[in-house]
Amino acid sequence: MIRAKSLTKVFGEKVAVDHIDIEIGEGEIYAFLGPNGAGKTTTLKMLTGVMKPTEGEVLVLGKDIFKHPVEIKRQIGVVPDEPKMYPSLKGWEFLKFIRSVYRMDDEKTEERMKNLIDVFGINYLERYIFEMSHGMKQKLMLVSVLMRKPKVIFLDEPSVGLDVIATAVLKELLRKHASDGGTIFLTTHILDMAQDLANRIGIISNGKMVAEGTVGELREIAGRKDLEEVFIKLTGNEEKLREMLERL
Ligand SMILES: Nc1ncnc2c1ncn2[C@@H]1O[C@H](COP(=O)(O)OP(=O)(O)OP(=O)(O)O)[C@@H](O)[C@H]1O
Ligand SMILES: [Mg+2]
Repeated sequence: MIRAKSLTKVFGEKVAVDHIDIEIGEGEIYAFLGPNGAGKTTTLKMLTGVMKPTEGEVLVLGKDIFKHPVEIKRQIGVVPDEPKMYPSLKGWEFLKFIRSVYRMDDEKTEERMKNLIDVFGINYLERYIFEMSHGMKQKLMLVSVLMRKPKVIFLDEPSVGLDVIATAVLKELLRKHASDGGTIFLTTHILDMAQDLANRIGIISNGKMVAEGTVGELREIAGRKDLEEVFIKLTGNEEKLREMLERL
């Protein structure tokens, strides 16, 4: 469903993403972890056709996303790290707009939308987007993507700003989406989220994929049990962190 070959992005002198290979199949939830500035958002932008790679290839649903942008983008959903939405629209106007853009004015989508609005406890559709908090916009964004039931969903730190209940709801919805055969690629800093949800985890550090596997496999590679320790070890920060903490 998602395949990246030798994916690379260079900004001036900085190699933000360095020859990364990713392969994610149907029904899989893939969590992409890595320190701040490691290259997660840049990778996600290239996988979703928002940013052209310097080198490499991206296939989504078996096709090159840069050669078939409209066809592929219609079938995927993207929840970016900062929900970019028209501030002067009201909540319900935004959802209506999305449904018309994707030509999804059918009853099934409307029913799904209403159920999602209920389950996320959204009671602010009459308010303008510019009046909404980050979490409120995030929930609206999630509804606008999930109501379309796209085959592949990309989410960049989706739980930032979400309250405890909304996070639990999101996890359940993502699990359901995958068990219905959908594919999910998400970035997160919340190790519990990755552990709870993902079939497979990729760890990127300084633009390079440093490890990939199930939670069990990563524990084995790192020789550590605790996922936080696994992360610190695999991103090469173990020694550095210990030295710095000793100095304090
Ligand atoms: N448009 C840009 N122009 C120049 N450099 C950029 C640009 N976007 C990202 N970078 C650089 O690329 C690197 C990777 O950034 P990216 O946003 O992909 O990191 P990230 O893993 O998503 O980090 P975070 O966890 O903080 O969201 C960083 O060094 C960043 O400064
Ligand atoms: Mg990011």
